Amino acid sequence: MRSESDIPFEDAPFNIPVADRVDRLPPYMFGKINKLKHEKRVAGVDVIDLGMGNPTDSPDPLIIEKLGEALSDPRNHRYSVSNGIENLRKEVSARYWKKYGVRLDPASEVIACIGSKEGFSHLCLALMGPGDTAIVPSPSFPIHVYAVMLASGNVISLDVREPDQFLSNIEYTCKHIFPKPKVVIVNFPHNPSTTVVDQGFYDDLVKLAKKYQFLVISDFAYADICFDGYQAPSFLASPGAIDVGVEFTTMSKGYSMAGWRIGFCAGNPEMVRALATIKGYYDYGIFQPIQIAAIVAMRHCDAAVESVSKEYQQRRDTLCSSLTRLGWDIQPPKASMFVWAKIPEPWNEMGSINFAMKLLDEGGVAVSPGRGFGDDGEGYLRLSIVENSNRLKQAVRQIGKCMKIEDSDAI
Ligand SMILES: Cc1ncc(COP(=O)(O)O)c(C=O)c1O
Repeated sequence: MRSESDIPFEDAPFNIPVADRVDRLPPYMFGKINKLKHEKRVAGVDVIDLGMGNPTDSPDPLIIEKLGEALSDPRNHRYSVSNGIENLRKEVSARYWKKYGVRLDPASEVIACIGSKEGFSHLCLALMGPGDTAIVPSPSFPIHVYAVMLASGNVISLDVREPDQFLSNIEYTCKHIFPKPKVVIVNFPHNPSTTVVDQGFYDDLVKLAKKYQFLVISDFAYADICFDGYQAPSFLASPGAIDVGVEFTTMSKGYSMAGWRIGFCAGNPEMVRALATIKGYYDYGIFQPIQIAAIVAMRHCDAAVESVSKEYQQRRDTLCSSLTRLGWDIQPPKASMFVWAKIPEPWNEMGSINFAMKLLDEGGVAVSPGRGFGDDGEGYLRLSIVENSNRLKQAVRQIGKCMKIEDSDAI
């Protein structure tokens, strides 16, 4: 028998030893669903995809026109600056003043990111390391957990669905663990649960941050998509917020520019500088024509953002009323691009992943199983309202058929 040392080195098994930070990531819960979605599409099935908050609508024509114009200027094809061009940062600052009455210095308190997810992840890397702990909302938008883990930090997940309880749990945790949490991540309107807060929540959070000396990162991705007159408050509008934290906003949702990859981090200058330092090493900034088109979008497209929000409100109404007719117990969201739906009995017994697989396999409707957002998401599905109202109704008919509801076609 050949011993291992007899095997020619060219034939020896070669393991790729990835870093611990990659090895310790939890399994990706949406993997199975995504694989089946791909197989269905390859087989020619017209999958109605309510899985991701990925807008299907185009940005306002003015934004596209400006992009074209900027593209034809040869000066815009070079590397840009990693923190965003000055006029873009000024526009973000102007928007904060106009919408929230918040004054920001565009030079030191605003930075552009390659989508807010990139900025958020790199900020975690800039702020956290081994032994540091972050409080993360649960159920969790996955990157809120993974970015902390990739920065070698530890995660404490606290249920976010009752904001007052969430606040008192933050305080309890700060009182009872040592070392104390370094960072608290908040995300309202919340993905996936659609929970919203008022300004008073942030006033109290800032007080807690000062008392227990933690930093706040607010992910404000759904700032622009609010319904029924509700206006989501900005964390930065609370007194003293800028002393303790930053806020991420994005052009992906309200401006339907998800593929363009442009978002912002604004607030505490030390935190902004920490992010700028990491980004200065890692990237050369967003493609400049995109930055220029984004300035025009923020300057001239308020009406388009409002009409996008109205459209989502209509879709929310269609989806919620159709699911209610199927017998689901639905709480219509006040904001965001999602409906967070409790799985009705007896289907909840099969678990959210299996139920979502069934809807995709038998009904051709892709949704996100609540379990994909952590244990607190079990028993729920997240349906995104990115498809038009007719497609949403069709999706509910197909869901009804999977559940063997007789007159689903009447929906
Ligand atoms: C809560 C939340 N934060 C951040 C993002 C990512 O936004 P961006 O496209 O700016 O990276 C999303 C996208 O789904 C989101 O739901």
